[in-house]
Amino acid sequence: MRIIKQDSESTPEVSAPAKSRRPVRGSHLPLRQRRALKGSDLPEPVEEPVARVDKAAGPAADQSRRRGRPKAGPQTHPPRSGQGARHEEGVERKLRSGRDAARRHPVRGDKEREQRRPQPARKAAAGPQHFFVAGPRGLEQELARELAELGTEAVEAGSGGVRFTGEIAQAWKINLWSRLAIRVLQQVAHGHYKNEDDLYRAARELPWPEWFPLGRTIAVTTVAHRCPLKSLNFASLKIKDAVCDRFRDLTGARPDVDARTPDVPILLYLTEDSYTLYLDLTGEPLNRRGYRVQAAKAPLNENLAAGMLRLAGWTPKMPLLDPMMGGGTILLEAVLMALNIAPGLRRHFAFENLNSFDRVEWARLRKNAQAEQKEKRALPIYGCDIDPRMVHATETNLRAAGLLECVTLREADALEVEAPARVGVIVSNPPYGVRLEHEDMAAFYQGLGDNLKRRFAGWNAYLLSADVELAKHIGLKASRRTPLFNGPLECRLYEYRIVSGQMRRPRAPA
Ligand SMILES: C[S@@+](CC[C@H](N)C(=O)[O-])C[C@H]1O[C@@H](n2cnc3c(N)ncnc32)[C@H](O)[C@@H]1O
Repeated sequence: MRIIKQDSESTPEVSAPAKSRRPVRGSHLPLRQRRALKGSDLPEPVEEPVARVDKAAGPAADQSRRRGRPKAGPQTHPPRSGQGARHEEGVERKLRSGRDAARRHPVRGDKEREQRRPQPARKAAAGPQHFFVAGPRGLEQELARELAELGTEAVEAGSGGVRFTGEIAQAWKINLWSRLAIRVLQQVAHGHYKNEDDLYRAARELPWPEWFPLGRTIAVTTVAHRCPLKSLNFASLKIKDAVCDRFRDLTGARPDVDARTPDVPILLYLTEDSYTLYLDLTGEPLNRRGYRVQAAKAPLNENLAAGMLRLAGWTPKMPLLDPMMGGGTILLEAVLMALNIAPGLRRHFAFENLNSFDRVEWARLRKNAQAEQKEKRALPIYGCDIDPRMVHATETNLRAAGLLECVTLREADALEVEAPARVGVIVSNPPYGVRLEHEDMAAFYQGLGDNLKRRFAGWNAYLLSADVELAKHIGLKASRRTPLFNGPLECRLYEYRIVSGQMRRPRAPA
């Protein structure tokens, strides 16, 4: 029997080598991966290089072995994407596929290989596990509240997400129900490292074949914060090699790599001296609900839209208006909330590919979710946009979701639109200079403020903007400003309580 040992130092399955130290977030990635990064849970890139080549030199082997041992236990430094993340080094490196070496060079008969294939081991996820639920920056507390409402115990909001310890089925439920989360990660190891070899050793000790079968494809993504390693691509490669080598030891064959749509996405998170390995239970980010079929100008991420509705304290009985609805993301999220539709009902998840997956329990969760949906009906949810193409886009998206009958849409100017009810809530993200060109933003914001005062007394308005000009020119006093991130854009969600006879504040000097 000949076992083909692939040299993990020089495996041919690397994508492009790491290029420059990324001045623009994700700009080094293929378009698809850049899209995946947009508004995702991954940290922002640093402005200046932080990796130092000289620090990447390896420590003594015995020391590294000691430091590199994986520890089960709560991570101390989860993947972050909070405001501090602007200082973080965030890079996604996925390894490009080569096909299975074992397939090209069979090392033993199929039967023998089948016999040695690890059997599904449900115990891999029996008992409480540690999870990190990544969410939009600025919405961590709201995400923690949402997870608690979903029955998650002992949630702890951190930067860029929420930690909890619980049963694996709770993680499935969060994937199915969370409107705010981006992804759910199951921690499988945490420890210290100095160099890539430490990472390799730590990953190779892990029982990967207990967690997923050989036939599943993998991809490793590395996200780092102040990581001293020269190449995160190489770190991903070492983890991939460790997983493959572990499989090969046990089965004589190794899993394939699929950089684009892996069955089992693996995430490595590095800080200055610690690593954490996760199985990504989600796959495609949770904000991809699958209903937004027609693109709009500067669309919001679905989970940010849902978070705005929660921060606004909107409940389904309150009239809701988005007077600058674009592709209708806020309206769609509101309808899903009002009808209690689980946002994950239409899609598949990476956890379905793991040995811990329990088809029966999952079917039960889905069935319950379907049973909890409310009847479709006309709701006091209203939207308008000055651009007829946007009205059409919203209609198309709502129709694709089967929810068009629930909302009232029209083409209208937000500077003149009438209130559709005596009291209610406006949730919207007006155009702003950074993303959309508007002839005269100051005049626009002033006109918007004037219309709110004239026609919306008794309403509360929640406007998301990255443009400080809005606060200056709208002529209303914000009662709350909540920092939020719309992708890389730092924004504020301004709360305006509109009362009748509200006086214009003196305009900021030009
Ligand atoms: C930032 S986009 C909204 C995106 C939307 N939230 C989404 O997720 O698709 C701003 C929208 O305001 C609309 N708009 C600009 N000026 C307007 C006006 N005077 N009245 C109504 N809508 C306007 C634009 O056509 C654009 O669709």
